[in-house]
Amino acid sequence: VSEVKRVHGPATRRQATAAAVPGLDGHGRGWTRVQPPLSVYIHFPWCIRKCPYCDFNSHALGTGSGPDEAAYVAALRAELESMLPQVWGRRVETVFMGGGTPSLFSGEAIAQVLSDLRARLPMAPGCEVTLEANPGTFEAARFAAFRAAGVTRLSLGVQSFDDARLHALGRVHDGAQARAAARCALQTFDAVNLDLMIGLPGQDSAGLDRDLDEALALAPPHLSVYQLTLEPNTVFHKYPPVLPDEDTLEDISGRALQRLAQAGYGQYEVSAHARPGQACRHNLNYWTFGDYLGLGAGAHGKITGPDGIVRTANHRQPEAYMQAAREGRAACETRVVGEGEAGFEFMLNALRLREGFSPELFEAHTGFPFALLEPGLARAGSRGLIERHGPVWRPTALGWRFLNDLQSEFLPPNPA
Ligand SMILES: C[S@@+](CC[C@H](N)C(=O)[O-])C[C@H]1O[C@@H](n2cnc3c(N)ncnc32)[C@H](O)[C@@H]1O
Ligand code: SF4
Repeated sequence: VSEVKRVHGPATRRQATAAAVPGLDGHGRGWTRVQPPLSVYIHFPWCIRKCPYCDFNSHALGTGSGPDEAAYVAALRAELESMLPQVWGRRVETVFMGGGTPSLFSGEAIAQVLSDLRARLPMAPGCEVTLEANPGTFEAARFAAFRAAGVTRLSLGVQSFDDARLHALGRVHDGAQARAAARCALQTFDAVNLDLMIGLPGQDSAGLDRDLDEALALAPPHLSVYQLTLEPNTVFHKYPPVLPDEDTLEDISGRALQRLAQAGYGQYEVSAHARPGQACRHNLNYWTFGDYLGLGAGAHGKITGPDGIVRTANHRQPEAYMQAAREGRAACETRVVGEGEAGFEFMLNALRLREGFSPELFEAHTGFPFALLEPGLARAGSRGLIERHGPVWRPTALGWRFLNDLQSEFLPPNPA
């Protein structure tokens, strides 16, 4: 996704898998940039119908019609082929198939996508391979086929178990489908994440408790909890639903955090809660400013090479993407991340992490000196938003609560 909104292991392991690229910095000095771990994100841009709150690159198919799987899988293969020179010799640590609704695709199509990837890039032993699924497209045989194809982790968009809340969200599934899909996911995969949304129209603390009772009774290894936001260019932005008032929202989110912690889930990132050892390695790679190939309609990528950090963004419309990918030009935007932006982009990610970050991580994964961050750290520190624990910088509780404020301390200076 997904992912920007919403990536592991200790620093020593990350560094052990990294390769060094010699180069020159902007001042003509020789330096060695470390290539961070490499992930692959693959976007599947279709859903049965568009949810009124959703600003992801997802396009409604309607019931009864499916995506043109063969054409899309061929386009992904063509794009991968065109991107290979950017990642020669590198190993894939994690894969994430997000959407949209990847679970609209058949087990055979997902198996083909993964075998196309394995045939062209080395995969790390124990590579984490996540697929996002919607309970409305749930079939037990399909989950089994995803597992046989090599998916190791299923992320299920439950949102709520309450029919009224699901209806208000315009979801295609109901509570019974959410329960059935979650049980089947837990029987089929060792690693499972359930997405829950809070602050829903008509939700109060008692309603949140009912959702958490059900989610915790299932005992998934990982839970992601997102507060509903009204995003520009969505139906909810134009016709806002009545949301819980500020006090109720505070109650709901405070209570959710407290109950998850009591149930043994560590909040390792703003929205992510996991049992020990069950954090999502793919998302951790984003948040520690790792590299990723972004394949598929509207996908974004970040690859560190001899010219520095290169970001790519693909054509968003599925047809335009497929045509462009076949012609070897899936990306419609490519830019090198300059010194001014690197600090801010790193902090947009790293400040989401409970464990914070070290100067070594910043220098290794951006190729820029830590001194770039020092003015912002001093300002944020004086406001009580960030603090240092030995070599590690961590947001304070206040900083996490006002994360946008904290992140904005690292905005690049306006060009003169
Ligand atoms: C892109 S969706 C992919 C999963 C799948 N399409 C689904 O919705 O079941 C990833 C997650 O983002 C969250 N999400 C999407 N839009 C949101 C919004 N406006 N506010 C809060 N969370 C949102 C939902 O929890 C959703 O499960
Ligand atoms: S199913 Fe998921 S990706 Fe599709 S429209 Fe709804 S929230 Fe967005």
